Amino acid sequence: MNFDLKTLELAAAASEKCDLLVVLLPDGLKPGKDALSALAALAIKNGDLSTKAGKQLQLYQVPAVAARRVVLVGHGDGSARATRQAVQAVGSAIKAAQTKRLVLCFAGKASAGAVSACVQAVAEASYVYVTTKSKAEARSLNRCVVGVQDAPAAREDFDAGVALVAGIEFAREWGNRPANHATPSLLADAARTLAKLPRIQCKVHGPAEVARLGMGAFLAVARGSEEPLRFIELRYNGAAKDQPPVVLVGKGITFDTGGISIKPAPEMDEMKFDMCGAASVLGAFRALGELQPPINVVGLIPACENMPDGRAVKPGDVVTSMSGQTIEVLNTDAEGRLVLCDALTYAARFKPAAVVDVATLTGACVIALGGVRSGMFSNNDALASALHAAGEVAQDPCWRMPLDDDYAEGLKSNFADMGNVAGRAGGSITAAKFLQKYVGEMPWAHLDIAGTAWKGGASKGATGRPVGLLIHYLLGQAQVAQPARKPATAKRAPRAKAP
Ligand code: BES
Ligand code: MN
Ligand code: ZN
Repeated sequence: MNFDLKTLELAAAASEKCDLLVVLLPDGLKPGKDALSALAALAIKNGDLSTKAGKQLQLYQVPAVAARRVVLVGHGDGSARATRQAVQAVGSAIKAAQTKRLVLCFAGKASAGAVSACVQAVAEASYVYVTTKSKAEARSLNRCVVGVQDAPAAREDFDAGVALVAGIEFAREWGNRPANHATPSLLADAARTLAKLPRIQCKVHGPAEVARLGMGAFLAVARGSEEPLRFIELRYNGAAKDQPPVVLVGKGITFDTGGISIKPAPEMDEMKFDMCGAASVLGAFRALGELQPPINVVGLIPACENMPDGRAVKPGDVVTSMSGQTIEVLNTDAEGRLVLCDALTYAARFKPAAVVDVATLTGACVIALGGVRSGMFSNNDALASALHAAGEVAQDPCWRMPLDDDYAEGLKSNFADMGNVAGRAGGSITAAKFLQKYVGEMPWAHLDIAGTAWKGGASKGATGRPVGLLIHYLLGQAQVAQPARKPATAKRAPRAKAP
């Protein structure tokens, strides 16, 4: 889909030919002399419309307006949040099959982040998954013009929104693909396509190399599957070589049956989403490829299936991780931490400024935080507050959870350096305590996205979270690293063809 930004007064918006014109009306609207302003003012005066975010009035073939349909929608305080609410409220009109050309016009000022939020909300409303449908009805929307009072002033925000959409949709696509269409090898292929973007490189390690690295925990999880594991290593080089990178680690279990500790049948299909951490790392790189910020980023994805089999790891088996620490695999369904611990050990070789792992790690996190906030754990206050703030700005929020050492008590084992589970109580925290044993002194954060990476029920599907949080965090790091430089979007490397 194509997004365009232009300076557009309401009077001019009336002559924009399109299938749907959405007019965002802020609190304290000062109506002009044009037809749309007059209509909006009258509807508000008569109580048929309010400027409360999301309140709307739908009109058809309005005289002197070129658009076939018009929706007047309240924009509240005009913030990014209100923008999202307003666009979400007209979501079904945006998604309608007849809507091919859409114009969205800000009747008031576009506040910080509002244009990006607008672009993202339009993309979210119009997204359709098609890859494994035979009669694919592609997204009907193919052009969206965002009209603002001052396009040059909104340009940077707009570009960030478009880049984020590319990243989020990449993550949603790979999250949504069924496990037989998103094997570890196919995920690696997807990562390789990203290396077509400027400043991105990709290396893929297979089973032999992972064995040579001594990743015994990762290997143990992959043993039960016929699909060979892949360890994906992505680089985004936007700064000098000696700038320590941020390392993103994504859990890439392309299907989680639970292994020998097999899961019950109901909703097991949703365990195709167990690679959404990996998908969010891929999505972040997709967005980095567009934004070209002056930072270095490494992406690490341990990808495999967790299957029961004659060769599968068994409860009670002891495996040796890359760090040398031994692990008693008490429950083969606690596999995410096993693939992540070796990736975290590997991350240390980059001497990172920070390591952030992203994982659909525990059902317990869904119980704790539901689908609103991701769980966030960190051994570093500055990193934790940067991630928290990024989540707020991105409207992709997280919540910091504790890491008291007392939570690690249950991980003690009589037969290895640690067990991989510690009972039901505080399950998302004990999982994080397990990971913490592999990060040493590195500034580290763990995002448990089990509740936020996908939705179940009628709207079952990947959300693309937390790509927004990650990108806002990384752009913030770019500002810290290069405060004097112009924002990343100002100096673009040449665009490659987007995968
Ligand atoms: N991928 C699951 C976590 C999960 C479960 C996410 C349900 C979303 C919904 C993970 O590998 C897992 O199975 N975790 C176990 C850990 C337990 C055995 C300690 C869990 O949460 O039940
Ligand atoms: Mn599991
Ligand atoms: Zn899992």
